[in-house]
Amino acid sequence: MKNINFDHKVVEMKNITKKFGNFTANDNINLTVHKGEIHALLGENGAGKSTLMNILYGLYQPTMGEIYINGEKTNITDPNVAIKKGIGMVHQHFMLVEPFTVAENIVLGMEPTSTLGTMNMKKAVKNVEDISKQYGLHVKPNEKIQDISVGMQQRVEILKALYRGADTLILDEPTAVLTPQEIKELIQIMRNLTTQGKTIIIITHKLKEIKEAADYCTIIRRGKHVDTVEVKSTTEDELASKMVGREVSFKVEKEQKQRGDVGLKIENLVVKDNRGIDAVRGLSLEVHVGEILGVAGVDGNGQTELIEALTGLRSITSGKVTVNGNDVTNKTPKEIFQNKIASIPEDRQKRGLVLDYTIAENMVLENYGEQPFSKNGILNKLEINKFAKDLIEKFDVRPNDETIKTRALSGGNQQKVIIAREVTNDPDILIAAQPTRGLDVGAIEFVHKSLVRQRDNDKAVLLVSLELDEVMNVSDRIAVIYEGKIVGIVDAKDADEKSLGLMMAGGGSQQ
Ligand SMILES: Nc1ncnc2c1ncn2[C@@H]1O[C@H](COP(=O)(O)OP(=O)(O)OP(=O)(O)O)[C@@H](O)[C@H]1O
Ligand SMILES: [Mg+2]
Repeated sequence: MKNINFDHKVVEMKNITKKFGNFTANDNINLTVHKGEIHALLGENGAGKSTLMNILYGLYQPTMGEIYINGEKTNITDPNVAIKKGIGMVHQHFMLVEPFTVAENIVLGMEPTSTLGTMNMKKAVKNVEDISKQYGLHVKPNEKIQDISVGMQQRVEILKALYRGADTLILDEPTAVLTPQEIKELIQIMRNLTTQGKTIIIITHKLKEIKEAADYCTIIRRGKHVDTVEVKSTTEDELASKMVGREVSFKVEKEQKQRGDVGLKIENLVVKDNRGIDAVRGLSLEVHVGEILGVAGVDGNGQTELIEALTGLRSITSGKVTVNGNDVTNKTPKEIFQNKIASIPEDRQKRGLVLDYTIAENMVLENYGEQPFSKNGILNKLEINKFAKDLIEKFDVRPNDETIKTRALSGGNQQKVIIAREVTNDPDILIAAQPTRGLDVGAIEFVHKSLVRQRDNDKAVLLVSLELDEVMNVSDRIAVIYEGKIVGIVDAKDADEKSLGLMMAGGGSQQ
């Protein structure tokens, strides 16, 4: 706590209220952040965290309330004002220009110029290198954004804010897309930043990270401020129950169950990645009905390509996929859907939803052409809305309004819409890729229960997740993927983190 200057309030948000129409996203919230502090914002999906930070960054105007920056009342009318006042923000979804280099992205809009007024790229690269070194970010200025990992892209976003003179950095769910190793590195970077006088506000759902990295934590529930606590004198359980207003179970309850026949069969599958290199290299796997088979592995070992191949989004070079004996190799997504395979995709914004469609429209995305949703080619809006209302109720989607666009939903609520749709189609096979990424603990509990319910109803569930805890908790059997192949399968009750970790790193299954 040595870095915090309690006499210096860098940010004070007082009685902030934000309404969207009749809906109150922030209800009289207070937030004080001191210089040098790492302050976590915790709350359920849709609690209003991103909204509050978008207000601080000038993207939204509060309906009521005041903001003080360094003790001075400030009217943050747009992000330019925020930046001038030393506030930077890295969003939940990055906003980089993919074909541009790291340095070009960082200096975009404020390029250093040479005497002739043309852009001085050499100087830009040097500037970027200097800041990168100062805070231990280690980016390579000349690489293109499209060629670097998500973790690196995030560092570029951080550098972009620092380059614009940010003293206070807002990080909106920075770890949701990172691997465990990248998370460790990010925490180290945050520490470097605060020892050099920067202040950080971080939104995260991961209580472990809050315990590890944050000094203070402010909890928001349904738009209201619940508490601000000193992190070292609180527990993960306390944080969780403050956040959802009830006790949360971190353990997945499931009964012993005899698995049935093979539902999904994958034989010698070979699939290429975007660069044309084999990412899945002769993978074989059988998922039985009545079981959850979890695939554990380090990111980038062919998981994404496997899922895309199984759901018809990527072509299969060789090998065979069958569902209940029917060949579905290289079928279109529609044919695969008709073969009763449902999927919860990894990237909910690109693959799972049409963001400019309403919740109701997204709920029937795959079967709007069928009865009762349409008849003789004419949509029956009444039936669609009734169906959507029912699912919103059952899956606790907030806000409870089928007519709003899914773009306006919080990340967790977008995920609930997809799960509601996919599970309700009553599939034989459910493929779930990173199904709880970015979700709060209450929503995670819900998703896990939904997966177990599918299994109990004799469906075959394939779970692919980078969260080892999740795979170990939810699965009946665990398959480890490494370099595009399954290198070992263990019963979940015999699995331990250490030996799985070893296999995930290519260490074999013997020890
Ligand atoms: N532009 C908007 N128009 C209408 N409603 C909105 C808008 N932005 C946010 N909301 C609503 O305000 C509520 C709070 O959303 P917000 O994005 O702040 O949640 P969050 O706490 O960041 O959730 P998550 O953890 O899922 O990201 C949500 O119910 C959301 O649907
Ligand atoms: Mg958010």
